[in-house]
Amino acid sequence: MKMNIAVLPGDGIGVEVMEEGGKTLETVCNVFGHHAETETALVGGAAIDASGEPLPPETLDLCKKSDAVLLGAVGGPKWDEMDYSVRPERAIIGLRGELGLYANLRPAHLYPSLIDASTLKREVVEGVDIMVLRELTGGIYFGEPKGIEEYQGGQRGVNTLVYTTPEIERIARTGFEIAMKRRKKLTSVDKANILESSELWRKVVNGVSAEFPEVEVNHLYVDNCAMQLIRDPRQFDVIVTGNMFGDILSDEAAMLTGSIGMLPSASLGGDVGLYEPVHGTAPDIAGQGKANPIAMINSVAMMLRYSFNLSNEAEVIENAVSSVLDKGYRTPDIMPREAGGCKQVSTSEMGRLIIAEVEKAG
Ligand code: NAD
Ligand code: IPM
Ligand code: MN
Repeated sequence: MKMNIAVLPGDGIGVEVMEEGGKTLETVCNVFGHHAETETALVGGAAIDASGEPLPPETLDLCKKSDAVLLGAVGGPKWDEMDYSVRPERAIIGLRGELGLYANLRPAHLYPSLIDASTLKREVVEGVDIMVLRELTGGIYFGEPKGIEEYQGGQRGVNTLVYTTPEIERIARTGFEIAMKRRKKLTSVDKANILESSELWRKVVNGVSAEFPEVEVNHLYVDNCAMQLIRDPRQFDVIVTGNMFGDILSDEAAMLTGSIGMLPSASLGGDVGLYEPVHGTAPDIAGQGKANPIAMINSVAMMLRYSFNLSNEAEVIENAVSSVLDKGYRTPDIMPREAGGCKQVSTSEMGRLIIAEVEKAG
């Protein structure tokens, strides 16, 4: 198969983990006889430094004409004082909006050998396997009006949380479809006890549920869900929620798997899928070879599965990750306090080990 892939490393550890993600893709293609035509472009702070804007038109055009986009991460202290309209993070929002990527899949799957990497007790996290489905092109991230305006001698910052029926229907339907392929349980998360946008969310989710009688549906308020994720995460199969609640709950869910450095994502809904780790640019560890590349590498696996229907190749990557973890290799974020049989490795060593396992599958 021939694939055209836009590669956007971005900033900070985005660049470091993309290095390993790119090599993994190359290896899987060599092993299985596929051809990945990759083109790298600037995004985020790196793009601001080069051209003054976080999402240059060339980068957006490249993404639009590619089959899929791989993204590292954007942002960092260097650009934190810039106006919101031109900060690195705008690039992410721009890409999601322009590519129509309304469905963001963030799978929190605990690799058995990482059971002690989580800060929670092993009996709580054992077997955790949750798909967080985050609505990605609506809600408070996109609502109008927004901005900072003069107000009563001071200023007023405004964002608007808005969801329309079609926006809720399509993400709910995606949630039910995903649940049908899993354990057939869907938890919709909202704040319907106080927010009108959530009142509509809940009503629409209940409406769509009639199309999926086999799926058991429940509703949780977001504050309770945040608590339940820590109390008893195994009650969850698929969680469907709005843009901001999904942002927060997915970082929380990441810790059930040991580290945010483990969580990949797929953003779907338009013609081109975008694949990126859930984490950011990690300025505190950038440039030190400490970043865990697994979220990025497993994002490559998600790309093969969702954009190219190459499930077998995706599993080869995921199994390679599993074998390397089983052998005790750990980046610092997943290293146990007492080493036991574990060996600490750098970003590039972790990448190399995973690639060696992928090669064995050939
Ligand atoms: P972050 O995810 O970058 O880091 C949070 C913590 O997790 C840090 O301690 C970091 O060291 C650790 N961490 C993250 N990824 C890791 C990995 N792969 N391996 C090991 N440890 C890892 O979140 P933050 O510090 O809130 O944000 C830093 C910057 O990244 C900000 O500019 C933010 O806007 C941006 N950001 C970008 C994205 C994205 O591009 N999709 C996502 C989140 C944050
Ligand atoms: C994420 C990030 C982004 C978000 C930021 C960088 C805009 O935190 O992908 O989770 O809030 O969606
Ligand atoms: Mn986030």
